[in-house]
Amino acid sequence: MCGIVGAVAERNIANILLEGLKRLEYRGYDSAGLTVIRDGELHRERQVGKVQALVDAVAINPEFFDGHIGIAHTRWATHGEPAQRNAHPHVSGKIAVVHNGIVENYAELKEELIAKGYEFTSQTDTEVVAHLINDLYKQTPDLLEAVRAVIPLLHGAFALGIVHVDSPEELITVRLGSPLVIGVGIGENFIASDQLALLPVTNRFMYLEEGDIAKLTRNSIQIFADGVEVSRKIHEIDAQQHNADKGEFKHYMLKEIYEQPDAVARTLEMAIDSTNTSKLRDDFLQRHEDKLSGIRNIQILACGTSYHAGMVAKYWFENLTRLPCSVEVASEFRYRNPVVVDNSLVICISQSGETADTLSALRDTQKQKPTGLVSLALCNVATSSLVRETDIYLPTLAGPEIGVASTKAFTTQLVALMLLVLKVGATQQRMDSERLGTLLSELQQLPGQLYASLHLDAAIKTMSESFEDKKSCLFLGRGLQFPIALEGALKLKEISYIHAEGYAAGELKHGPLALVDKDMPIVVLAPKDSMFDKLKANMQEVHARHGELFVFASESSKMVAEDRMHVVYVPDVCETLAPVVYSIPVQLLSYHVAVMRGTDVDQPRNLAKSVTVE
Ligand code: F6R
Repeated sequence: MCGIVGAVAERNIANILLEGLKRLEYRGYDSAGLTVIRDGELHRERQVGKVQALVDAVAINPEFFDGHIGIAHTRWATHGEPAQRNAHPHVSGKIAVVHNGIVENYAELKEELIAKGYEFTSQTDTEVVAHLINDLYKQTPDLLEAVRAVIPLLHGAFALGIVHVDSPEELITVRLGSPLVIGVGIGENFIASDQLALLPVTNRFMYLEEGDIAKLTRNSIQIFADGVEVSRKIHEIDAQQHNADKGEFKHYMLKEIYEQPDAVARTLEMAIDSTNTSKLRDDFLQRHEDKLSGIRNIQILACGTSYHAGMVAKYWFENLTRLPCSVEVASEFRYRNPVVVDNSLVICISQSGETADTLSALRDTQKQKPTGLVSLALCNVATSSLVRETDIYLPTLAGPEIGVASTKAFTTQLVALMLLVLKVGATQQRMDSERLGTLLSELQQLPGQLYASLHLDAAIKTMSESFEDKKSCLFLGRGLQFPIALEGALKLKEISYIHAEGYAAGELKHGPLALVDKDMPIVVLAPKDSMFDKLKANMQEVHARHGELFVFASESSKMVAEDRMHVVYVPDVCETLAPVVYSIPVQLLSYHVAVMRGTDVDQPRNLAKSVTVE
């Protein structure tokens, strides 16, 4: 979603802003812009398309952008089409504003401002904010005070960066529901939607709290909460660990697929005792044992790929601990007045920890105040809103995920969820130590099995050629592989733009069988598990109707390729953990199909990495 970068410094800041925007490209956007104050004027450039178009436009007259204070933005359209006039920064008089989030009551504010004589040049909600600040500044010619007076008038969730020609030393920022960090430099300070944007200039960050308003100058940072000046801790981070580049890979997505054995190994190390690998580490979630021992029900909330991880966890929780577990997409849960039963563990799964729907669903459960509610964030970003707002934080140690299509975050979510199942099972004595030991030893084989499944890359690339000109595709799985079928379909559609559906194979004859013909490829996830024989019968149903099958099967399944049936063998893995390993072939298949079709693999059209609006 939208990305903000801002800087106030002794040196020229245009390149810092542009580099920052490049580093935020992963968030998804459709236009980009920047404003720099120079010689008492706002110099603005905005372009539809990639940040590179903005870089090229700035390069035509670089001297216009030689300035010491400025703000920049990547826009993901919500109000108004992707167009230059809708790109940020938005300007009102001598004020420029960049904005992430949504101002819900912008229409009525706009009417009032038009009545006062303000002219609108865009279709955005953001322009309302610029005019409002301008209007209030006329009465209170102090930028911080004017911004402070505007915030209560705005409904919604947002982050802002604001500059004024008459205060060329001051950068004002607001965080209210959308992410924003302050980068602390020496004689220079910065703002951004994600610290990743600022790693070339600092490794020291302050994380604003919801409702914070801050004034940054070159040498000072003042933060206010409810009108009172407050201090926020400076966190020094290991820039090396947080940095992300493509290395020798063509795309972030491919790099991240290949990082999975290491990411999973790191996530396992967090919980498994290296001196006694048949035991969970004593310190794994130790201080939450009291809370975990009281829960009687699990409610999982998440969106997209994270929701699919939750679906797998439902099978695991119910099968291994016999605790009832529901899983629901957060965007539906939040609007249906759901019942949250007492003693529930609410697990919110999110790579970014900033997904607006997941955060709102969490807040709704908290508002109901059921007895014994315990909330847990399963998240890849330690500093995110979700982590701050929950009782327990269970990290996935995937490292920064830049490709919009989630890959390593998904497999580390699965692994962390299994670790949580084991912890709850052990804490509540719902699992004997033998079962626990067996699962732990199987978990430790996962990095090797993932590594081995990456060797399928060449075979899957060949397989992907059959998909290049296809319009539609089905993914089938049963039991634990059903969520992976859904995930495979999501991956394929989001990066290759081929329509794809995931189905529980037993449902074929209840409708989707009607779609089957020689032109629709059908991908089947077929590990040799307890559902294998039933799945083979489903494959026969397809084959008999001239469907072309692309099967990922266990080496031990003895499935053989035949006419209209292609088989790629996946390393043998225990049934319980097979969803983790079978994620790799569907990711690789989607990746190669997308590359072949020439799409923008890392930043697919219309999508954003961090969905901070509902
Ligand atoms: C798909 C994908 C999305 C996200 C979803 C939730 O590849 O990445 O479906 O999974 O937007 O995002 P998080 O996990 O950040 O809450």
